[in-house]
Amino acid sequence: MALVTLEHVSRRYRLGGQTVEALRDVNLDIAEGVFLAIAGPSGSGKSTLLNLIGCIDTPSAGRLVIDGREVSGQTPDQLADYRARTVGFIFQTFNLFPVLTAYENVEYPLLQFPEVSRQQRRERVMRFLDLVGLARFASHRPNQLSGGQRQRVAIARALAVKPRIVLADEPTANLDHDTGVEILRLMKALNTKYGTTFVFSTHDDRVIAAADRLVRIEDGRLTALGVRHDQRWVMVKPELVATTVFAHALPVAAAVEDGGDAAEGVADAAAAACTAQEDEPRH
Ligand SMILES: Nc1ncnc2c1ncn2[C@@H]1O[C@H](COP(=O)(O)OP(=O)(O)OP(=O)(O)O)[C@@H](O)[C@H]1O
Ligand SMILES: [Mg+2]
Repeated sequence: MALVTLEHVSRRYRLGGQTVEALRDVNLDIAEGVFLAIAGPSGSGKSTLLNLIGCIDTPSAGRLVIDGREVSGQTPDQLADYRARTVGFIFQTFNLFPVLTAYENVEYPLLQFPEVSRQQRRERVMRFLDLVGLARFASHRPNQLSGGQRQRVAIARALAVKPRIVLADEPTANLDHDTGVEILRLMKALNTKYGTTFVFSTHDDRVIAAADRLVRIEDGRLTALGVRHDQRWVMVKPELVATTVFAHALPVAAAVEDGGDAAEGVADAAAAACTAQEDEPRH
């Protein structure tokens, strides 16, 4: 079973007299453990999709199931506790509390879990700060840290609640090139080591190149799904292939066979996607 399933999900916003279709009939399965990039132009619906998966927002239509639980139709308030335990967020602008230290920022979301004792909380905060290489900076406030260090605090904060899924909305957009690559490597290492599912939006080809799954979105519609296979992207059109093929780590040969007609579009799209791969950060 996929960790996240979207079936015919739409999200409409009403603004003044206008209706904006931010997402249109999206069907997608996200398997546990993937490192998934959502790529698309500005305004295409990337943040909207992440907000739905993170239960910050709810669909206007369609079905959304996360970790076996149907969340469509419930209000964000009803989902608050569930969201706190299931999802970790990383934001473009880090969103740390400026008056709290790195330690206190990571500790903050843990304060709402009565089952985590003070001692456990302390151990967990230090373990995750250590994991992102910032144990020495525990007592620094955000303005005493660099951008990359702030984002590492945010990563520690997201992971400390031991979420099933980490959602990152353009996590490298406010970082310089080298720091962005470093943050991506850290996220990928955590994904590999702990099997935590990461879903992140990006405009950046280097970030796309580090992913093992890719969703392309334009004007609220999914236009291509990509699976990394032997250092190459194999892209399929969402309407031509069962989304479950995308969800599971099947060998791509099998995915193409299962997809039948989907094989037709694969070669062109894979060739286009390979340009992103040239810039892939070295590990
Ligand atoms: N709260 C809102 N109220 C009204 N319209 C909204 C709201 N949030 C998003 N939209 C609209 O929905 C569409 C998708 O927006 P979204 O923020 O998901 O795009 P995006 O792909 O994340 O863009 P960017 O790359 O610029 O961050 C846009 O047309 C946007 O104006
Ligand atoms: Mg956005």
